Amino acid sequence: MRNWKIAVDGPSGAGKSSLARALAKELGLIYVDTGALYRTIGLFMVEHDIDTHDSEAVAARLGDIQLELTYKNGTQSVLLNGVDVGEKIRTPQISMAASAVSAIPAVREFLLGIQKDMARRGGVVMDGRDIGTVIMPDADAKLFLVASPAARAKRRYLELCAKGIECSFEQILEETNRRDEADRERNIAPAVPAEDALFIDNSDYGPAETVAEAMNLIAQKCAPKRS
Ligand code: DC
Repeated sequence: MRNWKIAVDGPSGAGKSSLARALAKELGLIYVDTGALYRTIGLFMVEHDIDTHDSEAVAARLGDIQLELTYKNGTQSVLLNGVDVGEKIRTPQISMAASAVSAIPAVREFLLGIQKDMARRGGVVMDGRDIGTVIMPDADAKLFLVASPAARAKRRYLELCAKGIECSFEQILEETNRRDEADRERNIAPAVPAEDALFIDNSDYGPAETVAEAMNLIAQKCAPKRS
């Protein structure tokens, strides 16, 4: 297996996880979903009735958390104190909790070791917000994925419609704009591209075109170094 390190960063809803998962499959690498770690911290705090905006209270409980990442057939599981969190970390409530705890420096510090360990092993495609800048500054290719608010809102709208959830496109576009503003204004680890990031704007692309463009960029970046 190739020992490449590929970073995929970008704002919420740009399609990072779909791209990272597809690249991992195509290149025979492990897909590491770092957002799942923040979600698991959020889950622990919610389950223990800790206010996720109270940085001192959150920091005080981090010592009670042991995290482990396992991989089976390309699928990642997060073990929280030995128990697989499964889909419990994917609810809207836990998304909010993850967003809140991810802005707490002690939480970012706490999750540094486990992410750096995965990075050191290599053979990974990691997605997140600070992968190319903090976790894998030595990545072989650093992709930064963006899409217009309208494109992201449309995808989300169609996703919800497909699940039979009633919603309006205008409402989702407004939420997307609000979340972008909050993300831009948070002053810890905003999604900032690395200096040597390779940009992909996938506003007008389908999933396959995004993967093709990424594979092209990776081939250009990695080919001269490794035959
Ligand atoms: O990618 P996601 O939606 O699963 O991420 C959950 C939250 O964690 C999201 O609010 C952003 C944050 N996050 C982060 O700050 N840094 C990362 N490397 C990954 C996720």
